[in-house]
Amino acid sequence: EKGGYATFMEKEIHDQPHAVADTLLGRTDASGRLVLDELRISEEQLEAVDRITIVACGTAAYAGMVAKYAIEHWTRIPVEVALAHEFRYCDPIVSERTLVVSISQSGETMDTLMAVKHARSLGALTISVCNTHGSTIPRESDAVLYTHAGPEIAVASTKAFLAQITACYVLGLYLAQLRGGSFADDAQSVMKELGEVPAKIETLLGRMDRVKEIARFMADTRAVLFLGRHVGYPIALEGALKLKELAYIHAEGFAAGELKHGPIALIEPGQPVFVIVPSPTAEHGLHGKVVSNIQEIRARGARTLVIAEEGDESVVPFADEVISVPATSQLLAPLLTVVPLQVFALWLSTAKGLDVDQPRNLAKSVTVE
Ligand code: M6R
Repeated sequence: EKGGYATFMEKEIHDQPHAVADTLLGRTDASGRLVLDELRISEEQLEAVDRITIVACGTAAYAGMVAKYAIEHWTRIPVEVALAHEFRYCDPIVSERTLVVSISQSGETMDTLMAVKHARSLGALTISVCNTHGSTIPRESDAVLYTHAGPEIAVASTKAFLAQITACYVLGLYLAQLRGGSFADDAQSVMKELGEVPAKIETLLGRMDRVKEIARFMADTRAVLFLGRHVGYPIALEGALKLKELAYIHAEGFAAGELKHGPIALIEPGQPVFVIVPSPTAEHGLHGKVVSNIQEIRARGARTLVIAEEGDESVVPFADEVISVPATSQLLAPLLTVVPLQVFALWLSTAKGLDVDQPRNLAKSVTVE
């Protein structure tokens, strides 16, 4: 059942091309337009939405943070990401024109369920992005958009994360199409580009030997930092979470722009730092700034583990290791850049002789508040 792999997590990491492809399946018509019949909320109601709040916990919340960049860019609807367990207690601003999107692999996370119920009681429209058919959160929501990652057994979420980002992107593009704004025409071309991502993940997975080796040599590392910007920021947070839960290592993710506002004080000789570098061609133009950050931390002795687009030679002089990922557009990059971080956490946990699939103190679905 582990498909020849030693752990469910390793299998699930390798399932990721399918998780993305299957989540995209059947969501466009013959002409390439998005069709989401399963949504069960009228087009009129969706057209009236003036605010989106994403509620989720843990990895699912990081998927939501990634999705915020994309949905706001495509729809110009303000998107807020709330940790589900905080949502109910912060007197949230919700009206019947608010769309509350919950994200949950299990569909049973109590914190997320309570957030959805609270949102409904305040009159919001609720959509559940969920991986488990027949689970509670979709049943308690107005509509559901299933992720098709297949069952995820390992406690650490991997393929569900990629599927959640994919599903949220489909939703964002659908809303853009519906509203007919300037990005409506782009929806089809983004869908096409998304369709090319599974093959790119496959290519990337074929190159992970070096990451495995790096992890093996780092079994006694005590702390790892992760830096990213824009959509790379939630990926830095996700890389740190994977390492905490799997390898019991102190790990922290930062927005690279924060470095000089405090975290750079943590850099001492030998400190490993993963840096997620945006493409040199990314429209936001942040590539140069992140490369400067690598220089800054390298000058203070950090061991720099750099995730960059293939062919990006500019990082080479400042990188102790370069992990190359296939090129894609800036909003789709997280579907690739997170993969080496998952692989790193998997093999570091293995190198420490820990239980990869069942880390201590954690449960696959957290059904208590
Ligand atoms: O089932 P859910 O997606 O609602 O679970 C949410 C979090 O508990 C979950 O993502 C958790 O953070 C994972 N163990 C992360 O790997």
